[in-house]
Amino acid sequence: MNAALRMATITLVLLTLPAGLPAAFAADDVEATGKDLTLIFRSARKVISDGQDLINDASKGDKGLSSAAVIEKTKANYKAVTGTDLNLTDDGSPTAKARSALINAVQVTMDEAQALINEPGKGFKGFLPAVFGGRVANNFSAAMAGTFAIKLTAPKAYVRNRANRPDEWEDKVIESMFKLPGYEKGKAYAETVPVKGRAAYRYILPEYYGASCLACHGDPKGEVDITGGKKEGAKLDELGGAISLIIYQ
Ligand code: HEC
Repeated sequence: MNAALRMATITLVLLTLPAGLPAAFAADDVEATGKDLTLIFRSARKVISDGQDLINDASKGDKGLSSAAVIEKTKANYKAVTGTDLNLTDDGSPTAKARSALINAVQVTMDEAQALINEPGKGFKGFLPAVFGGRVANNFSAAMAGTFAIKLTAPKAYVRNRANRPDEWEDKVIESMFKLPGYEKGKAYAETVPVKGRAAYRYILPEYYGASCLACHGDPKGEVDITGGKKEGAKLDELGGAISLIIYQ
């Protein structure tokens, strides 16, 4: 984004924020909340990433990945990144509610997954980080309907699951900002912009393909991966997805 556009956006955010959001949210609060919730989401998904070999081990029954175990590991991942404990104190704020709802969504998702992941004699189970992430996102967004929503999305050309397609705003940010060669890697973008006619704060965090992702998303393009899907032909460090959060008025 050029300097003038950036100034205009910042001005717009400053001008519209106080009117567009609940009184409990100050401008810096929504940004902190966006950052925190997307970090919790990532910390949880990393447990499923790190556990892929274990989850797909046909020789083991119980994988020890109960909802409680996954939540404990989520907290450890969160602390490793932030240096602070995940704060789940209920101070009555919308942010506290959202944090608990996100952890709760991890619990529901993992409770429901136990039969699948603990099935002995079965190798690849399709319980991928993105599948886990999609379910957590759906559970969270249903529980917080009308106040918060979270979603895992990706550049349009790379979307496998249609439910993850970027909406117009996400697509615009991905294509015209995140994909620019000069865009600072890993930097989130936020904007106060209506969603379906409702005032909302949107926060979107770009994600990139690491080496482990390329077994499915890499070269050669079109080759069938272990999941039965077609590889995208993506390159190491290329933009591969985004975590998108909405905080409604
Ligand atoms: C074992 C194969 C496999 C690996 C490894 C893998 N993915 Fe995926 N990925 C998939 C499949 C299959 C889907 C579609 C999941 C669904 O149906 O919801 C997917 C979906 C996604 C999505 C959601 C958007 C979409 O296409 O529906 C993102 C973002 C994503 N992957 C990024 C990554 C990243 C980043 C990594 C590495 C950290 C990674 N993937 C590793 C197979 C894989």
